[in-house]
Order: sequence, then structure tokens, then C-alpha cells
Amino acid sequence: MCGIFGYTGKKEAQGLVLQGLRQLEYRGYDSSGLAVQCGAEELRFEKTKGKIRNLEEVLKTNPLRGSTAIGHTRWATHGTPSQVNAHPHLDSANRIAVVHNGIIENYSRLKEKLKKEGVSFRSDTDTEVIVHLIAKYYRNNLEEAVRRAIKDIRGTYAVAVISAKEPGKIVAARFDSPLVAGVGLGENYLASDVSALLDHTRRVVFIENGEIVSLTENSMRLMDLEGRAVKRLPSKIDWNISQAKKGGFPHYMIKEIFEQPEIITAILRERIKKEKHRSAVFFEELKINRREFGKIKRVILIACGTAYHAGLVGKYILEAFTDIPVWVDTSSEFRYRNPNVDRRTLVIAISQSGETADTLAGLREAKSRGAVTLAICNVLGSSLSREARGVIYTHAGPEIAVASTKAYTAQLAVLYLLGLYLAGIFHARPRKKIQDTLKEFFRVPVLMKEVLENYKRDEKNWAKNAHDFNERYHAQLKKYFGGGAIEKKRSPNGFFLYLGRGINFPNALEGALKLKEISYIPAEGYPAGEMKHGPIALIDENPWVICLAPRSKTYDKMISNIQEIKARGGMIIPVVTRGDREIRKLDPFYSIEVPAVEEIFSPLLTVLPLQLVAYCVAREFGEDIDQPRNLAKSVTVE
Ligand code: M6R
Repeated sequence: MCGIFGYTGKKEAQGLVLQGLRQLEYRGYDSSGLAVQCGAEELRFEKTKGKIRNLEEVLKTNPLRGSTAIGHTRWATHGTPSQVNAHPHLDSANRIAVVHNGIIENYSRLKEKLKKEGVSFRSDTDTEVIVHLIAKYYRNNLEEAVRRAIKDIRGTYAVAVISAKEPGKIVAARFDSPLVAGVGLGENYLASDVSALLDHTRRVVFIENGEIVSLTENSMRLMDLEGRAVKRLPSKIDWNISQAKKGGFPHYMIKEIFEQPEIITAILRERIKKEKHRSAVFFEELKINRREFGKIKRVILIACGTAYHAGLVGKYILEAFTDIPVWVDTSSEFRYRNPNVDRRTLVIAISQSGETADTLAGLREAKSRGAVTLAICNVLGSSLSREARGVIYTHAGPEIAVASTKAYTAQLAVLYLLGLYLAGIFHARPRKKIQDTLKEFFRVPVLMKEVLENYKRDEKNWAKNAHDFNERYHAQLKKYFGGGAIEKKRSPNGFFLYLGRGINFPNALEGALKLKEISYIPAEGYPAGEMKHGPIALIDENPWVICLAPRSKTYDKMISNIQEIKARGGMIIPVVTRGDREIRKLDPFYSIEVPAVEEIFSPLLTVLPLQLVAYCVAREFGEDIDQPRNLAKSVTVE
């Protein structure tokens, strides 16, 4: 989950590494540091607790000059966030520096052994054993020392290493934590993520598990753990640099929310083509052929967090378009069960980053049991995309905000298309129906744009509502905690409840997750039909209940649920289809309208206000929207 950036060339490395780390800060931000080769066999380093700006401050007055450096932004696993635990870690003689992403599982055994050999440790991290092992094996050949050290460690890692004795060289290795090298002219780069390289180069080499790469300004050598040369041509990345910048928006999150209509349009244009007067779905990169798909008897979707919610919507979609039974599981549960999968099971792993440890492990488990595996992934060349039997890229461009928005709707778009593609293979729905659905799909991004334009027009009102909520929330908190006695029978403060039914139920979970992540307000998502089975006990005048109630086959049931909440004093914020009168009669606190669309596509519209509510509340509360506390963009450890 941490970010690694390295540079070797002729330019001053400090600025470039800091710039790279800023691009990677979403991966972790509790401390950061860098080590620079400062000539004459000397390494200098600096590290600070907190965000990268703290490191920048220190380096302003005390710059580290040199043209080869490695840097790191940390998300703590072993050892609290502190200066001493921040990376880089150095050997006892300060001659070798290491930055690391991942977890070394056998570190305590290695540490004990090294201690017995006389090594003293400075930090509480698992990483420090790596640098001492490298120092132990170092005989003026960094590649060899790294190779031997790597053989001793178990766990997950992306490591980058420099030595004072080998100027101009960075050696790096990976196992289950992402690492990519960027090819420049008279310079080379290293990063945890392609997006950090885009300012410098589009030509990248993805480092595979069990590989070591050695970089100098004019060379890039790949080898395996036995030291045998590995040949791989660079891949070309066609992501747009501007996609990784804020582009005039105050936060990445709101920028990414606003990108969604264009992304969905691009996905449709890329994937739907005319074939003999008919529209058909094409997945160019998908290596699984129609015959293989034809043998599938069931589908299991696995994912984490927001991608899991996309998987839940995917179940409704695939069941609507095919007759295949579909299951959905969080990757962390799937991998430790005894999932009954076989070669007639299609396991679809959904992940923005393609590096989520649990999803990768779930995919491997499915593969080992013979399932046909398919990754739906955003990051090109990510581990998941390379390990799955087939891949469909979402092409949403780099998603920088920790709270996922555009990746979610892009995943949904791909799932709709996959459903329609499979419907064609299984002849599960009449051709005319498929054609009509594809046609309706083209309207969806236009309608998404309308929702966002309405928000823009009404932005002041949204901000005012968020402000009123803030006042009320804090007044309630004061009443609850400040007044001494806790009022009985009252829920503590304005928590949020999100309710939905059918294909909009997963959006209730997603809305609650978005709010929790960036404003730290307790929020729950529920299928509205479950209210009577427990959660209704929470209702008094305190919770804010966001009800997803677009026109649908369960609309009347949703109205009954709203009435039940109203009757108990709950404050309703419904998301309704434009022109809805029924719900208006129930005197909601504030209604949010979305345009009418076929029910199956409604999640693509109803999720937008939920993303915006979370954004507006977090902004009003003054939270760090793009980098919420305790979170990291890609969770590459268990
Ligand atoms: O990269 P992935 O899609 O595999 O990530 C999965 C989750 O970690 C991710 O969706 C997380 O829940 C987001 N922070 C949600 O906004």
C-alpha cells in the first residue's frame, strides 16, 4: 500500500522523487522519506512523519543533491507511523538504503538471527531486516546481494535499493506488490504505479513476481532469482497525463465524479460496434473465447470494497441478461472458504488497482481449482490482469482519490456489456431485446451528465444542506455528550442510513461506504425490505435516511418503507425519478431527482447523488477528502 519512486539519470533526483511521491501519496501518507547518492560513496537521507509536505519543508532548507535516489510514502503495517519507522531504512554503516512496500512475514525470526550476529536495529519495522540482510551479503555487487537477501525473506514485497558503493544504480525486486520501471532517454525510473511515471515517460516495463531489475541511466537489466537474464519489451501506456491531474477541480474526488459520463461514453464507443446491421459487444483483449464461455455453468464475482458493490450490481445484471446462477463474495471470505468451483465456473475478479491482495489471492485460489478466471480491472498491466485467464479493462484512466467513484461506474458499465455479451452467447434473451437494451445504454451517459449539471446549478443549495447538517450534527453531539446524562432511547447523533431495493440495493451499501470513508460519520446500507427485521429500531428523529426510490418494480414497497420511517420521525432524503409526486407528498427533508431510465441502468444514475452527498458533507466538515485517515488506495497487504 506504500508508494515507491526511484530515479537515476543526470538530473537532480530530489525534486523528481518528491514529485513522484506526491503522485503516489494516495497509496499511504503517514510518513515519507528519501535517500540520495550524494557522490563520493556517500548516501544521505531524510525522513519525516506525516504527509509529504513535511518532508518537502525539511528538504527546502537542507536539500539532498545527487542524481540517483529512491523515495517512499508509507502506510504503516509494522511499527507506528513515526520518523524512525519511516523509510528509507539503512544498514548500520549507512551505505545501503532500502524502501519497501509489503509485509515480510518471517521478519521476527530473521531479526533474531541478525541480532545474534551482532546487528542492532533502529526501527520496529519488518523492512529493516531487508537492508541488514543485503548488507550481510554485499560484496560490491548489489544485484547479487539483493538476490540472496530476497531468497531469505517470505511475504510480499516491492523493494528498491541503492548502495553508496555503486553510484548511479538502483536495484529493485518484487513479489506480490506492484512495481514498474519507466524507460527514459539517458535516465530511468521506478514506481509502484504507472500514473507516477506519466509525467516522464509512456514506455514502461512491468516487473513480474520473482524478478529483479537493475537500473542505471543507460540500462535496464531484468533477471530472475537465479540471476538468469529475462527479456521483456517495454509496454506503451496510452493514459492521458491530464487524467492524473486535478484539472481545476479542488479535489481529485470531485474531478473523478465529473469524469464519469465521458468515461461511460468512451467505454460504449470502444466496446459496441456495428456488425451486419446489428450492434454487438466486443472485448478485444479478452482471451477467453465464446466456446469456453459457452461451457460455463455458473459465475462467482469476487472483489473488495467498492468493487465488491459493483460485483453485487453485477449479479443483478448477469441474472437479468442470462440464466446462469451467479454468486458474489468478498475476496477475503472467498479465499478462506472451500469454494466449490470447477472448470465450468467463471470466477470474475473485479478490482480498480488489480493489486488488491485478497482479490489476487482469491483469483489464484479459483485458478488452482480449475475455474475459468476473468479480471475486470482498471490499471493496465496490473497483477490481476496478468494472472487471470482473461481480462477486460475498464479504461477509466488513473483514479487518484482514495474514495472510488469513476472506477465503480466503469466497472458497472463493463458488467452490463459482459451481461449482454453472454446473453448473445447463451441465446438467453431475444436479439431484439439485446438491441433495444444496447440502444438504451447509449442514453445513460447523457443522463448522467444531466444529474451532474443539475448539481452544478444547485451547488449552493447542496452546500447549504451540508452546512445545516453539520450544525445539527454537532448540536446533537453536544446534547448527547455535553449535557451529562445520556438521553435514553435516542440514537447518539445524526448517523446516516442508506436504503435501496433490487438493483439499487448495492448502491445503498456504496453510498454508506463513501460517506464513512471520507467524513467518518457512521453510516449503514441496507436492503429496505430488511428494515423491519432489526434496523428500524434505530429510527427516531436523528438518523438521516437516504432512500433510493427511482421508478422500479419495487417502487410501491419502497414508499411503504419510507412511510414506516416517517412514522417514527426519521428524516428522509429520497433519490427519485424526475417528476415523482408520490414521495413529495410524504414531505421529505430534501429530494434528489434523477432522470427516468430503464430500471436495470438506474444504479448508474442513483449512485451519482450518493457520491456528491459524501463529497459535500466531507467538504463541509473540512476533512481531507482525497486522503482520508487510515486508508490507502490499493490494499496490497491482507
Ligand atoms: O483496487 P480495488 O478496486 O481492488 O480496491 C478495492 C477496495 O479497496 C476499494 O474499492 C476501497 O473500498 C475504496 N477505498 C472505496 O472507495
